[in-house]
Amino acid sequence: MKFLIYGKGFLGHHFLNYLRSQKEEVEFGTADIGNLEQIRHDLLTYRPDIVLNCAGKTGRPNVDWCEDHKEETLYSNVTGPLILWHTCHEMSVRLVHLGSGCVYSGDNHGQGFRETDAPNFFDSFYSSTKAWSEQMLKPFPLLQLRLRMPIDKQPGPRNFISKITKYEKIINIQNSMTVVEDLLFASYELIKRKKTGIYNMTNPGAIDHVTILKMYQEIVDPNFKFEVMSLEEMYQKYAIAKRSNCVLNTEKLANEGIQMRPIKEAIRDCLEKGFLEKRS
Ligand SMILES: NC(=O)c1ccc[n+]([C@@H]2O[C@H](COP(=O)([O-])OP(=O)(O)OC[C@H]3O[C@@H](n4cnc5c(N)ncnc54)[C@H](OP(=O)(O)O)[C@@H]3O)[C@@H](O)[C@H]2O)c1
Repeated sequence: MKFLIYGKGFLGHHFLNYLRSQKEEVEFGTADIGNLEQIRHDLLTYRPDIVLNCAGKTGRPNVDWCEDHKEETLYSNVTGPLILWHTCHEMSVRLVHLGSGCVYSGDNHGQGFRETDAPNFFDSFYSSTKAWSEQMLKPFPLLQLRLRMPIDKQPGPRNFISKITKYEKIINIQNSMTVVEDLLFASYELIKRKKTGIYNMTNPGAIDHVTILKMYQEIVDPNFKFEVMSLEEMYQKYAIAKRSNCVLNTEKLANEGIQMRPIKEAIRDCLEKGFLEKRS
């Protein structure tokens, strides 16, 4: 298969490297995903079988940026994906789009939110744009992958574990999270099977911040200290937009016979491999 990836960011690079390791032909596209003519030009030049959209505005240093840059966020997270879909469809190219699980709040009475549940979290502009584009594209035959709070073996500014080790104080809420290594192979399986529709791409189970940092203390740094705060304190002192805290139901992916590892096991593996190696 020949892939064209949009979005030369954290996840775009992960997918590029993974697909190359699987001996797939893969390049980054040069188009702005909101520019139909540029996308047409890319598709005619590269002739991909599949376009993978890892482009979007995620905000730097965090999603609060999107509150003050609503036009750019809407353009890249809603207009762009719609134009990309339109152009791929017109030229008979399959589209895979990275969505977000941060479109919910809560755990849906302990069951986790399924792909069929309507988004219920619109208290941040970033999450709103991800929910709008997902729902607008839902009727069409593309694959939409919902991930959350990505965790990687390699420490870095986009890695959720690295992020919370750097915060002055942390909140402590159960969440669904995505270990990138598992996301990559599970996404590739879905793509090979030509699946379409929405899939929750979080590791089974949920985990809270304190459990992760206790594992970090145990495995990586016994001297590491952290402090817990309430959500109220976080919103008073550290955040502008509200944050999605939620649990997703992962049965749809499991029913395909595609197993991401349970979240605790996968996080332990990240800590024992990349994090510990980097320290020693
Ligand atoms: N990382 C997460 O926590 C997370 C969680 C759930 C879902 N996702 C989704 O996964 C996707 C990729 O996330 P990421 O973490 O890899 O983000 P990232 O590191 O910020 O990379 C996104 C890339 O997209 C580019 N881009 C933005 N607008 C574009 C446009 N109109 N045309 C072409 N390229 C454009 C950005 O370029 P500029 O820097 O120049 O804008 C950047 O290189 C996003 O859709 C995001 O919503 C991410």
